[in-house]
Amino acid sequence: MADGALSIRDLRAGYGQLDILNGVTLDIAAGEFVALMGPNGAGKSTLLKTLYGMTTVKGGEILWNGRDISRLRSRAILGEGISFVPQGRCNFPLMTVDENLQMAAYTLRDAKMKADRDYVYELFPILRTRSRTIAGNMSGGEQQLLEVAMAVLQRPKVLLVDEPSVGLSPTATSIVFDELLRINAAGQTILLVEQNTKKAMQVASRAVILRLGVVIWDGKPADITHDELGELFMTGRMRGEAADGKQEGLSGEGGKS
Ligand SMILES: Nc1ncnc2c1ncn2[C@@H]1O[C@H](COP(=O)(O)OP(=O)(O)O)[C@@H](O)[C@H]1O
Ligand SMILES: [Mg+2]
Repeated sequence: MADGALSIRDLRAGYGQLDILNGVTLDIAAGEFVALMGPNGAGKSTLLKTLYGMTTVKGGEILWNGRDISRLRSRAILGEGISFVPQGRCNFPLMTVDENLQMAAYTLRDAKMKADRDYVYELFPILRTRSRTIAGNMSGGEQQLLEVAMAVLQRPKVLLVDEPSVGLSPTATSIVFDELLRINAAGQTILLVEQNTKKAMQVASRAVILRLGVVIWDGKPADITHDELGELFMTGRMRGEAADGKQEGLSGEGGKS
């Protein structure tokens, strides 16, 4: 299996006794920009948390470069090259941008991976201009960018980002998405959970829809309209598709499973 490939097989996970993911199967190749969407409570955040070792795994596997990492702890997963930007922003609002990045660098275990802040400033010039600004005084978009930068400092092979646009103005959202697009163009693999479907469909190379803890659609953004997406969110089905997922009155494949 190619380096940097993530293969999620029939993953079942949740919180204690509570099952949230009911058999998620999903492959992510190196370099992809995948948008994970779905209604509230579908399990999107739970999937990211599970990939980052923060939930109880009940079954299935998460193959990373061909090896099952589903039972590793977050620390080890970070060491494997998977970084997570959880929902919400600004870990250290009273510190400057530069100090925040120093804090992120402290978490690096491997001395040779101890990335300097220059690396991040080269990637995100906006942050360089803000290096001495108190993080909590920046705009929401800039704060979210700082969170992404702190994760990118670890030089991850895969970046998991949970709803970066929540609470952001359209302009701030565009800043964050433009930067995500830019680092993806430079090779960064991204799995993004996003409620702003319109925006997500513009930037992602692939869209995955999760509902009730399973993947119900997986394809290219161009292959689904906004209305179809809404219908999938609401009903779990495409128009003209019977409840069992087969298309009515037509042969051939129905909406992608
Ligand atoms: N820490 C937790 N403990 C118990 N249940 C949780 C926890 N976090 C989320 N849940 C439940 O898991 C389900 C899926 O939540 P989540 O993954 O956050 O959905 P999404 O991100 O798609 O909106 C919800 O029913 C939610 O209440
Ligand atoms: Mg969520």
